[in-house]
Amino acid sequence: MLEFPQNFVWGAATSGPQSEGNFKKQHQNVFDYWYQQEPTAFYDGVGPDTTSNFFNDYKEDLLLMKKAGIKALRTSIQWSRLIDDFETASLNAEAVSFYNDVIDTMLANGIEPYINLFHFDMPVELQHKYGGFESKHVVDLYAAFARQCFKLFGDRVNNWFTFNEPKVILDGAYLYKFHYPLKVNGPLSVQVAYNINLASAKAILEFNKLYGSNKEKKIGIILNLTPAYPASESEADKKAANIAELWANKMFLDPAIKGKFPEELVVLLREAKVLWDATSLELDIIKNNTIDNLGVNYYHPMRVQSPDIAANSLQDWMPDIYFDDYEMPGRVMNVDKNWEIYPKSLYDIAINIRDNYENIDWFISENGMGVSNEERFIDETGIVQDDYRIDFMKNHLSELQKGISEGSHCQGYFTWTGIDCWSWKNAYRNRYGLIRNDIHTQVKTIKKSGYWFEKLSKRNGF
Ligand code: NOJ
Repeated sequence: MLEFPQNFVWGAATSGPQSEGNFKKQHQNVFDYWYQQEPTAFYDGVGPDTTSNFFNDYKEDLLLMKKAGIKALRTSIQWSRLIDDFETASLNAEAVSFYNDVIDTMLANGIEPYINLFHFDMPVELQHKYGGFESKHVVDLYAAFARQCFKLFGDRVNNWFTFNEPKVILDGAYLYKFHYPLKVNGPLSVQVAYNINLASAKAILEFNKLYGSNKEKKIGIILNLTPAYPASESEADKKAANIAELWANKMFLDPAIKGKFPEELVVLLREAKVLWDATSLELDIIKNNTIDNLGVNYYHPMRVQSPDIAANSLQDWMPDIYFDDYEMPGRVMNVDKNWEIYPKSLYDIAINIRDNYENIDWFISENGMGVSNEERFIDETGIVQDDYRIDFMKNHLSELQKGISEGSHCQGYFTWTGIDCWSWKNAYRNRYGLIRNDIHTQVKTIKKSGYWFEKLSKRNGF
């Protein structure tokens, strides 16, 4: 049996916009707005109002998750739900009582709340009026929202996170058009990256003012780490992989843990004449407000080769002029998602954090397998026989355990996700849950992987 350390946390992750549903929300976020404008941009035309209805059903949903052995739930508070007036951060009373009751119900069921503050859900008014995180004013409004959350729920919530996958905001909203506002602007994406790092540090500053001396209260950030492996040992490929690492991982990892941007990245941007607007006061805030705990979302690595500069130099500046993907023969793919399945990266991540990032406390804040058309695996008893998901988790957990046994401080494993949820532009194309949700009837049924997870969490291993 593969055992995990005592007090290892077995959890699941979701987010407010992907699970709550649009009930009684005062404001739209960018996805609510985009769906209203262009429903056909979403898989099967299904939008953010089609969820597991956590807003109404959280009591039953939490009981089901408990039954599947989930001892901690990572979800997010929606800025567009909690706040009535963004400029003054005034509160919406109904939302306050909803989130209060969600947290109390979790605790009453022995489910530890892990609360994140931003999961791709910029209020659309702030996007239209100021450009969202293009604007430093919005950075300050976000910090005021964060402060409200800490004040309201910090007595009961010990684990907080400022952002989920900020890199995906750059990719989706500023480079490759899969998040609203669908801009393609490399230099602007760099400013947004800087501003999000600043926003995270400002939220941490607010947190520390309230809870800095309380060792039980922790704040972190959730990053999707995609280790970059070069196609060959050639200097050119290694250089490309190094730049991919800087851009995809270190851009957020370094400021969060070391309090500064990697010098190599700053030089690269300077050479490309892509400069960010930064003040020394802001850089000090970033330096002095690093995280206590890192959440790592891991799905797939990057395979990188040196690019064809001649072809790429014709474009306006984009970060990917420095590296290209390459097809590695023999790699295992999740064909539904077109993502490589490579569990060994989890070991590499564990060792990288141990050796290069102060051996900080961290945990897997997302890992899971998205599969389309899961109806085909429902057996005569009505249960999804998702052995592929169990194998996926076992293989990843084995690599993780190896990293832990070699001294990396990983404290938990949160699978994405508990109950099947809405996944942005892909809607329900791929399902990830331990629990199936029929979105037409709202009947929720534990899958085979949910029963397996229950045993895993009870035995603290498999
Ligand atoms: C990462 C994101 O945090 C989450 O919102 C998304 O649904 C999953 N990955 C699956 O793609």
